[in-house]
Order: sequence, then C-alpha cells, then structure tokens
Amino acid sequence: MANPYDIAVIPGDGTGPEVMNEGLKVLDAIAKTSGISFNFVHYDLGGDRYLKTGETLPGTVLEELKRVDAILLGAIGHPDVKPGILEQGILLTLRFTLDQYINLRPVILYPGVETPLKDKGPDEINFVVVRENTEGLYAGTGGFLRKGTPNETAVQTSVNTRMGVERCVRFAFDYARRPDRRKNVTLCGKTNVLTYAFDLWERAFNEVAEDYPDVSTGYAHVDAVCMWMVKNPEWFDVIVTDNMFGDIITDLGAMIQGGMGIAAGGNLNPEGVSMFEPIGGSAPKYTGKGVINPLAMISAAAMMLDHLGEREAATRVEDAVKRVVVKDIKSLDAGKMGLSTSQVGDRVASLATG
Ligand code: IPM
Ligand code: MN
Repeated sequence: MANPYDIAVIPGDGTGPEVMNEGLKVLDAIAKTSGISFNFVHYDLGGDRYLKTGETLPGTVLEELKRVDAILLGAIGHPDVKPGILEQGILLTLRFTLDQYINLRPVILYPGVETPLKDKGPDEINFVVVRENTEGLYAGTGGFLRKGTPNETAVQTSVNTRMGVERCVRFAFDYARRPDRRKNVTLCGKTNVLTYAFDLWERAFNEVAEDYPDVSTGYAHVDAVCMWMVKNPEWFDVIVTDNMFGDIITDLGAMIQGGMGIAAGGNLNPEGVSMFEPIGGSAPKYTGKGVINPLAMISAAAMMLDHLGEREAATRVEDAVKRVVVKDIKSLDAGKMGLSTSQVGDRVASLATG
C-alpha cells in the first residue's frame, strides 16, 4: 500500500451509487489539498449487472480486486433479485476470498446526534465491535436431508478454527491499545449453550490476554451484551465476537449511535486487501431522490484513509463529519436531513479541506 493508492470502487445497488459519489467527492477534495492521490477504478457489480448478464462476481474482476490497495463498497441488494444471491455472490465472496477476517464496526455517538437511549450521550456510547468475518455460521457448512419431504432436515454448522478465532481475538487486543481506545476487551459469546464453539473462543481469548497484561478483559453472553448495550453501553470499549453475533449486535449498535445514516464498517485483512462500506443496505425506495444520508459512506472512506496509514487525512474527514452533524444536518435519517445527499457531501468536502 503506497501513495498513489489504487482504489476499487463498487457503487452497487439502490442508493449505493449516490452515497458513493459523496464519498469520492470527499476523497477527491482530500487529494487536492494533500500529498495523497487515488486511482479509482469503478466496477459495476450488483443487481443490474446480474439481471443483465447472470454474473455476480466474475473471476477476472476478483483477480483485479486482489491487487488493489483497498475497496470501497456502496451497497449490495436489489428488489428484483432473490435475497441471498447478491449477498453471497458478491459481498460474502469478497469477504471470504480476500480473507477479510475482521469486520470492524465502531459504535460511536457523535455530539449533537440523537440516540434512542435515555440519559446516554457521547461519553457513554463509544466502543467498537470486532466481528469475526470469515467463519462461524457464515461458513456455509451444512445441507439438507430429505429436502421437500415431510421429514426434511436442515443443518447449518458454525465453523470456528483456532487460527481464525485467535487472529480475530489478537486483532481486538491490539486495537484496544490504540490511543483512542481504553484498553479493555470484552468477549461476547454464549459459553453456557454453545459449549464447543465458545469453549474454543474462551480458551483462545484467555491465552491471548496473557500477552496483553496492560489490557483488562471481560466476558458477557450475547443476550446480556444486547441488554448492556442499551442499559450501560459505557461498559464497553472493544467487543470481540463471532460472525453471527457480531452481525446482530452491530445493527443494535448502529441504532444507538444514531442510525444507519452514520454507521460504517471495515472488512479488514490486515495483511491483504480490505473493503470499507456503510453498514446499512441499498435502501431502494430512496433511490434517485437525493435524500439518502451519505455520512456513513463518507465515514467508511475515513476508515479507509486510516487503514491506508493516512491518519491525518482520516481525522480531517472524521472531524468534518462531526461538524456537519452538529451544525448543518437536521436529522441523520433519509429524507429528514434538511439538505440533499450532495449538499451533505459538499459540506463535508469543504470542511475537511478548509
Ligand atoms: C452485514 C450484512 C450482511 C451480513 C448481509 C447483507 C449478508 O447484514 O454486513 O452486516 O450478514 O454480514
Ligand atoms: Mn448485518
């Protein structure tokens, strides 16, 4: 990864292209006012291409994506395509093939943003979820027996390798040492029921913890984590968990940080190609209306800058997002912002470079 950066751009479906435009607008503005430059290469992956050609992710595209410095993804999901095809064929295939074994999802409430949690503010809602991103129930292991008969059986198995779990846990401990974190890691599991999978997780967690004597640790079952995220979110700094639990608790996380309009995430392969995306979907009903909030996409672009090692530029974008949230925007929800999608992008771009 070196400047100039080769960035693959996948705008995707629905409102994906609209929010992507604003993400790229901000990155272009950063490039004009810094020594950083980007070669953006666009890929038309998504529902429209699938409906036209039957292809989700052609092998030639996948080969090209293996060689870029990072990937920006808008959104995947098309109302005319059966659920699962694009998610599996594009998003999950990219995560798995590029071995993006961490899904990093900050849950940070910015000042001025409304949270549905009573009596909680930015001091209380500031943690990150480190979600394992290549194993667990997402591994696709299982099958049907006697499908379509009255005795049909479906089995779907959670895959937890010691290697996969350990590298994820280690990432969480390293992350907890970042200057913007508080050196605490909570394992989110279900050791009382999933006595094989989370036994392995717990042992890996405790062994890795020994290498980080300066980092404090905790454990909570996933159901309790849901409860504490609402009641006492200030207890969490870094939460590490498996793929399925991480998927679920980060939607809850997005809601307490102000909604899908602001929630961003990174699919990370620290040794390879990482991909950054807003965590909300393609929101097809808002397509083309210019009312979707691009801040999650812009925040994903900031996470990309941070990942590329461009910490200063990342901070400029993050700070600009925070200022727009406080000063310019009425609500983070689509259609209620008081500004259009592109006006929000304009504001962030000008504040990030002004
Ligand atoms: C997410 C999404 C995906 C997931 C879907 C679209 C496959 O919900 O990124 O959280 O479950 O990982
Ligand atoms: Mn999800």
